[in-house]
Amino acid sequence: MPSRTDNWWRSAVIYQIYPRSFADSNGDGMGDLPGITARLSDLRHLGVDAVWLSPFYPSPQHDAGYDVADYRAVDPLFGDLGDADKMISEAHALGLKVIIDLVPNHTSNEHAWFTAALAAGPGSPEREAYIFRDGRGPDGSEPPNDWHSVFGGPAWERVPDGQWYLHLFDVSQPDLNWGSGKVRAEFEAILRFWLDRGVDGFRVDVAHGLIKDATLADWQYAGVILGGLAPEGAPPPPMWDQDGVHEVYQRWRTVLDEYPGERILVAEAWVQPAERLARYVRPDEMHQAFNFEYLDAPWSADPLRRIIGSTMAANAAVGAPTTWVLSNHDVVRHATRLGYPVGEPRRHGIGAGDPQPDAGLGLRRARAATLQMLGLPGSAYLYQGEELGLPEATEIPDEFRQDPAWERSGHAERGRDGCRVPIPWEADAPSYGFGPSDASWLPQPATWAEYALDRQRDVAGSTYELYRSALRLRAGHGLGAGALTWVDTPADVLAYRNGDLLVLTNYGTAPAELPLNARVQLSSEPLAADGRVPQDVTVWARV
Ligand code: NOJ
Repeated sequence: MPSRTDNWWRSAVIYQIYPRSFADSNGDGMGDLPGITARLSDLRHLGVDAVWLSPFYPSPQHDAGYDVADYRAVDPLFGDLGDADKMISEAHALGLKVIIDLVPNHTSNEHAWFTAALAAGPGSPEREAYIFRDGRGPDGSEPPNDWHSVFGGPAWERVPDGQWYLHLFDVSQPDLNWGSGKVRAEFEAILRFWLDRGVDGFRVDVAHGLIKDATLADWQYAGVILGGLAPEGAPPPPMWDQDGVHEVYQRWRTVLDEYPGERILVAEAWVQPAERLARYVRPDEMHQAFNFEYLDAPWSADPLRRIIGSTMAANAAVGAPTTWVLSNHDVVRHATRLGYPVGEPRRHGIGAGDPQPDAGLGLRRARAATLQMLGLPGSAYLYQGEELGLPEATEIPDEFRQDPAWERSGHAERGRDGCRVPIPWEADAPSYGFGPSDASWLPQPATWAEYALDRQRDVAGSTYELYRSALRLRAGHGLGAGALTWVDTPADVLAYRNGDLLVLTNYGTAPAELPLNARVQLSSEPLAADGRVPQDVTVWARV
């Protein structure tokens, strides 16, 4: 165990495992905990410091496990508690920390509390655990307010006795009432349950959503799907980023601090501006908050320089590191996102009938983006498969789609299935080595053999080896714990120094010069014959 002062999380590279799609040990087409445990040594070889696992709790799986029916157990799809214990101890034996997902904003409608609340009826203490209200209109047949679900459609559902309950996400995900002492006590007990089992931290789902404005005032704007940011000019949303959430995390921090080692809290909070987000990582609250502004940034030097600078400054003001991320299970993979023309609005899923990305350009930029990110001081998150250069699966037939956003948006948004397809390990094995059979809960594209790990391991120039070299250099040069200084460059070039390394990305068509004394350590693509840096390339050089 590290000492409380070693601050491992300030510079850690944390690899997100999406359990459904990482490795399947029993051939049922669904990834599982024994599959993960068997592959941990591959992650050690890659060179990451920690893993974060998306939820593996019992769940009806209406939102891929973010609808939790029991916070103290494992869904039989993924194994059992013994498998979770084994996974944690094996990770620790390999020197990897383990972060698990905690979903406190809502439960599944199959959670015992919700079924009890439905049975107990209006006015009962059981209903206090959720946000039940009478409807509007003479017969209460109108929802209590005009809020929209993030996945589309209304955020209220009427139950047979006439009351309505709030669900900011799917109808199967009723929002908890964080004004209830019982809810607060239960989540502290859940934290302890997993801390006692040895986890090193929690990624907190919808961390900005727990507290709603007490008046439940109308707010007519549809939540940006999976974003929750207010559209330009809208009044502040009454359901996101209320001041009351901080008290919850201050309390949780005291619980975590009772445990040996440094156990951490990571906020999934779609909050802007950076100063508001930084409030989640004040010294007595959480440790990290994903920097989604960076993830959302266009592929362009000026906005990236501004966002890197402003988010680092906002975090520095509260003494926190910045937490960089380019891909996760909710967004189009960056190897695909960056294959579209710069400045196009963010896509929330891609189908066969949609404009397709320029795959070569996307991968080239993705490699450059990753080197830019991994050179920055702070912590960084990688999403499974990005180290293979994996693109989004953009042609999943619609009948296979499982993301609730697809149905709830009336098929306006294809949703997130394309970034969740089981990943390829072996080019010539069934399901590309995802599992021992052909089964895969989402179909794998026929072209994925080329991305398989066994086609890339020890292959010079492969995306996998690029990631591995970057992680080794990052550790060797102490980049995560370093400090950034901007370097003056022509427009369309972004360059900074971190310790003895210069990190330079060229976004423009004109090749960029490196300083005369630069000794190139790594570059996302080969440099020009004259040593200049071509467009869409990042270089790490010693200066
Ligand atoms: C954010 C999670 O990352 C996403 O996958 C989920 O659908 C929502 N929160 C609701 O839990």
